[in-house]
Parts: sequence; C-alpha cells; structure tokens
Amino acid sequence: MTASAPARPSSPADHLWMHFTRMSAYAGQPVPTIERGEGCYIWDTDGKRYLDALSGLFVVQAGHGREELAQAAAAQARKLAFFPVWSYAHPTAIELADRLAAAAPGDLNKVFFSTGGGEAVETAWKVAKQYFRLTGRPGKYKVISRAIAYHGTTQGALSITGVPPFKAPFEPLVPGSVRVPNTNFYRAPEFVADDEKAFGRWAADQVEQAILMEGADTVAAVFVEPVQNAGGCFPPPPGYFERLRQICDAHDVLLVSDEVICAYGRLGTMFGAQKFGYQPDIITSAKGLTSGYSPLGAAIISEKIFEPFATGETTFAHGYTFGGHPVSCAVALANLDIFESEDLLGNVLRREADFRVTLNRLLDLPIVGDVRGDGFFFGIEMVKDKATKETFTAAESERILRGFVSPALFERGLYCRADDRGDTVVQVAPPLISDQAVFDEIESVLRSVFTDAWAML
Ligand SMILES: Cc1ncc(COP(=O)(O)O)c(C=O)c1O
Repeated sequence: MTASAPARPSSPADHLWMHFTRMSAYAGQPVPTIERGEGCYIWDTDGKRYLDALSGLFVVQAGHGREELAQAAAAQARKLAFFPVWSYAHPTAIELADRLAAAAPGDLNKVFFSTGGGEAVETAWKVAKQYFRLTGRPGKYKVISRAIAYHGTTQGALSITGVPPFKAPFEPLVPGSVRVPNTNFYRAPEFVADDEKAFGRWAADQVEQAILMEGADTVAAVFVEPVQNAGGCFPPPPGYFERLRQICDAHDVLLVSDEVICAYGRLGTMFGAQKFGYQPDIITSAKGLTSGYSPLGAAIISEKIFEPFATGETTFAHGYTFGGHPVSCAVALANLDIFESEDLLGNVLRREADFRVTLNRLLDLPIVGDVRGDGFFFGIEMVKDKATKETFTAAESERILRGFVSPALFERGLYCRADDRGDTVVQVAPPLISDQAVFDEIESVLRSVFTDAWAML
C-alpha cells in the first residue's frame, strides 16, 4: 500500500477483489455486506434482513446458523485440524467417502475429494483422459458439453464451460472441448417446439452428431448437469438422459453428471441423476455437501473407471492440499446427519409442486415468459413480448436487469440471482428447509419488481 491519495473515491471494499464483479460499480459505493444468517434469512451490516432465495450460491441446503455444523467443525479442528489424503488417510475422509459411495447410484464407489466444484470437474476430465490412456485408447481426450453451461473457472473447467464471454479473455484454453445445444425447451427449434419428447431426442442426438463429427476415437467424456443452471434452469426433456446413456455406451464415451448444484437434495434426491433415473460414470459435486460451513468438493467415480488405476505402478498424479480437509469432511458428515434427521430430501419432494405452483402465478405478468426448473431450483425468464418470446437487447438487459431488477430485488429484501449469461432470467434456489411462507415471500417480491420493470420498458 502506498501513502499517495487513491485515484478514485474509497469504498468499504477497497482491497477485496470480488468474484465475477464489475469492480468499477463499487468505486466509492457501499458494497452489500452480509454478516449473519439464520435459517432462510441473512442480515447485512446495517441490520437489514433478506430472504436468502439462492442458498448463498446454491450451497446452504440446511439453512444458516446451524449450531451442530459449527460444533462439528470446531470439534474436528480441535482433534485434527489438518492432514492430507496424499498417501495417508484420516477417519473423517474415510467415513465420508463410504457414505457418499453408499448414497451414489450404481457402482459409483470411489470418491476423489477436492475443495470445490471446478476442481471436481478438472478431476473428472483428467480421470477420463488417463482412463483411456490406461486402457489403450490414448487418442480419446476431448469433451463435449452444452451451450451456456457453466462448469467452473480453472482452465480445464473453463474450457468445458459454454459461456463465450467468460472464456474469451483467457483463450487459448485447453484444446478439445466441443459444444452442443442445451435443453432449453422454451426456445426449442421450430420443428420440435411442440413435442418435448421429440425435442429431447433431437437434443441428445446432437451429442452423437458431435461425437461422430469429432471422431468417437477422440472423445473421452460428455459433461452435463441434470438440470442446467446457466441460462436459467433447463430440466431434461423426457427420454433425454436415456438416449444420452445409449449414445455414450455406443461410442465408449464417459457420461459425467456435473452435480455441483443438483446433488445433495437440490432436486429432492441425494444426486440429480437419481431424480431422472440415469447412471453416470462420474458425478462431480461440491456446494451443498457441507451446506457451505466449510469448502469441499467430490468427484465420485465408477468401479469400472477406477479399475485400471488400481493395479501395478499406476498413480493418478493429481490432488489438492485441502482436498478432503478433515474439518470439511466432519462438517459434511454432520450435514448428511441433518439431511436424515430432518428429512430434507422429503421436504423438497413434498413441497416442490407447491413451489412450482407459487412461481407459476407470476406467469400472469406480461414480462414473465417462462417458469422452469425442478425441486427447489427454478428460473423465471423475462421477455419483452410473451407472444413472440422476444428477449431483451444487450442495452435493455443492461438497463433493466443490471440497472433495475438486480438492485431492486435486493432493496426489497430478496437475495437471488438475475442472470443474462443466456436469455434474461431470475433464479431462485432457497434452502431445503423452506416452506410455503418462503415461497410466497419470493413470489411477492418478484411480482413487485417485475411489475415495475415492465413499466420501464
Ligand atoms: C455445474 C457447476 N459446475 C462447476 C461449478 C464450479 O464450482 P466452484 O465454483 O465450486 O469451483 C459450478 C459453480 O457454480 C457449477 O454450477
């Protein structure tokens, strides 16, 4: 730090470089600063309360302020604050791996811990590459993923990510990553626009087309989310995953289910693949595993993929100092205890239809084009014209979404996400402990902000 005067007015966050943040917007401006949480609510440093309708960032499944999770972290830190899982193990990592293997579908029995989601995605791609080398097909290294899908920011995960403006400043990225259409039925091509099943078949077949175009002997894996987040919650059309599994089997391509958001109850099942009945080769996960009380990610890998790593001198030369951190593993175990004792999955399954019905009420507003999602994970798409589905221009999105909707939601006490990585959407994903009162509050604030946004058009 120098003694010279700052070139711009000072801000409370002069030294904090916030993630994915246009920092100029905060020059000399107050930064919204959250200091406390309890249940589904958070409070800022002025004592103002907000409904956390995004679970932090799709993370705080069990809600804020859980004493038992804080206790689990403290107890583990006292007993063994740190030890790596590099050639050694510690009891909480072993126990958590057992528990995840038991909960994961089929033969997904090997758990490779990371500290977050992007690292789990990196891990999965590297596992896939080495698996094919070990089994005599070293040319299979490419990955296929879907347009607008977000898979993380490290350079491998960013290569898999399908949001061009996030990638452009960092090109060239890791070679061998190919995009296919996503499952946005609201904007399906005309020839399948009135038949969800046909759309699902078409969307899955695009993956096969990409595999054939690249050459099946060059493709290692397909990365897909059960419900795609970026773009605003695209659920899979009927038959999509069944067909995708067939395609992957036919071409010997691994199916990676990126469940960094959809695992751990977001859709009402422990893993998203279980909600839609498909069997991945690898699940990548993070976020809700600890409800955010400590960072942790996990790639959960099938016995079949692990097998060639289990013999001779083979090593998977990959890892993270803090992957499988003892405190995080202890917190995850306590978090999974809460899932059981409070039946969080059951709460989501029992209430998801009511959540949908409550949000669907917004469809009476002229600016709301679509409400879509699953479990406690929904996107509401804003349009200029419901009949034509016309979306906002970049300038309108800047003025309406960034300039008004986003700050107005927060000012009116709702923390959620307004997003234009694809079309213009607002996303809601409240803690898994939410009830009808929470849904009503979300709907009521969204209604008032959307009504005012329409008046600005
Ligand atoms: C589907 C998906 N994959 C990967 C990531 C990256 O996770 P992290 O931010 O923990 O690295 C995210 C983050 O939101 C995600 O939604």
